[in-house]
Amino acid sequence: MIEATINTAFSSTAGPRTYWIRTFGCQQNDHDSEILAGLLEACGLLPAASLETSDLAILNSCSIRENADGRFYGHLGIVKAERERRPELLVAVCGCLPRIREHQERIRRSYPFVDLIFGPEDIPRLPELLLKRIRTGRQVHHVSETNDPLVEGLPAARQRRFRALVTIMTGCDNFCSYCIVPYTRGRERSRDSDAILAEVRQLAAAGYSEVMLLGQNVNSWNQKRRPGALDPPGRDFAWLLEEVARTGIPRIRFMTSNPRDLSNELLAVMARHPNIERHLHLPLQSGSDRVLALMNRHYDRARYLEIVREARRRIPDIAFSTDIIVGYPGETEADFAQTLSLVEEVAFDSAFLFQYSPRYGTPASLLAERLPPDVMRQRFDRLLALQNRLSEESNRRLVGRELTVLIEGAADHRPGLLLGRSSQNQLVNFALPPELARGLGTDDSERLGEELEGRFAIVRVEEARMLSTSGTALELLPAGKGTS
Ligand code: 5AD
Ligand code: SF4
Repeated sequence: MIEATINTAFSSTAGPRTYWIRTFGCQQNDHDSEILAGLLEACGLLPAASLETSDLAILNSCSIRENADGRFYGHLGIVKAERERRPELLVAVCGCLPRIREHQERIRRSYPFVDLIFGPEDIPRLPELLLKRIRTGRQVHHVSETNDPLVEGLPAARQRRFRALVTIMTGCDNFCSYCIVPYTRGRERSRDSDAILAEVRQLAAAGYSEVMLLGQNVNSWNQKRRPGALDPPGRDFAWLLEEVARTGIPRIRFMTSNPRDLSNELLAVMARHPNIERHLHLPLQSGSDRVLALMNRHYDRARYLEIVREARRRIPDIAFSTDIIVGYPGETEADFAQTLSLVEEVAFDSAFLFQYSPRYGTPASLLAERLPPDVMRQRFDRLLALQNRLSEESNRRLVGRELTVLIEGAADHRPGLLLGRSSQNQLVNFALPPELARGLGTDDSERLGEELEGRFAIVRVEEARMLSTSGTALELLPAGKGTS
């Protein structure tokens, strides 16, 4: 086993004993970092509390938008300073950026101290690459562009106790014209349902309350034939989601659904199983049919609204969130007005809004009709003001209601309160009255947060803000109980 070799190599040399990982970007990257950590721990390394106390620093990068690149290079500068202070620090860069040749070259040229560069496909080989670096003393650059099936059985050092991330597919074949993902994550590949369900059952047995099924486009699960696939062609994401629901795990989330191939059967499965979240994250990108066609999205306003209507008919308490890009090349004021009107019509409960940023190698990056930054900024601010109003209205509708929330820990900026999340993905800060805290051995919210992370509570909502609500717990459910 390579892990055993590394263990010996590290203990007999001055190899790294501790690691530190900084992750940028999406949940897929978060989960990749959990696997990197799992592999390193299998090699005998331990997590370091900080960059300054680590022997190996890994930056897991993201390439989705320009500001993600900026944050990454900013951090690489911080790591560089640390490396100058401690030349023995090993530095690795992985994730999506190295898959883009321009960035790979920039990292090699401008940051020559980086010891290891590898891509998302090379994660299973981390122990081997690290060993090579230690044995040869030379830099190792290994960025594969394969579209091989996903490797099963990798260990994961999971970062949260309440939510386990589970990859069901990776890659994307949609080639939306602005998006870099098909180039950095490669072709769509699905895991076998046997492996996914075994992982979910194991997580349920280990006491996890929530699984989040991950894929660039979960609705494409098993839609592409792959050599050696165990699932017959007729099986789709709706089938898989129902099987996951039947494992009895208390709560299931999934990310991301493309409106292009969201089926009524999926909505029917959600309606049948109360342990599936009452929430759909459904990226809209634009409300203009003209822009949607230019973006190569393969749906229009009418279809999007039809999905929303059908979902609300079948699941009356469902919440919607979305992603929207403002300022796609050539977007006119009339196109933008269509986005505003669709957002108002759907009344999204929350939304992630982005200003368009050209991504190297994508078709949209070649378009000349870029919007002036001030026009883009002004449209962004108008959309943000609208969504802020809608988010607050959505939260205000919760006041007086009792929600089942999954406790995530102590509330970030509300001393003394705990933080939970409803099935509709709403954030709820709440107080735990002394009679419910009795027997827990502490009334300190930090310690209560640690103790109760992963438990469910019934909370009465008393107050609404723009991005969250707050209230008081009425009941703490027994461990392992939740739903709806
Ligand atoms: N510019 C701005 N936003 C983008 N996104 C993806 N690519 C770009 C880009 N080039 C946004 C989309 C996507 C989310 C993850 O990031 O809204 O859904
Ligand atoms: Fe990018 Fe479109 Fe694929 Fe989403 S569906 S990852 S936006 S190409």
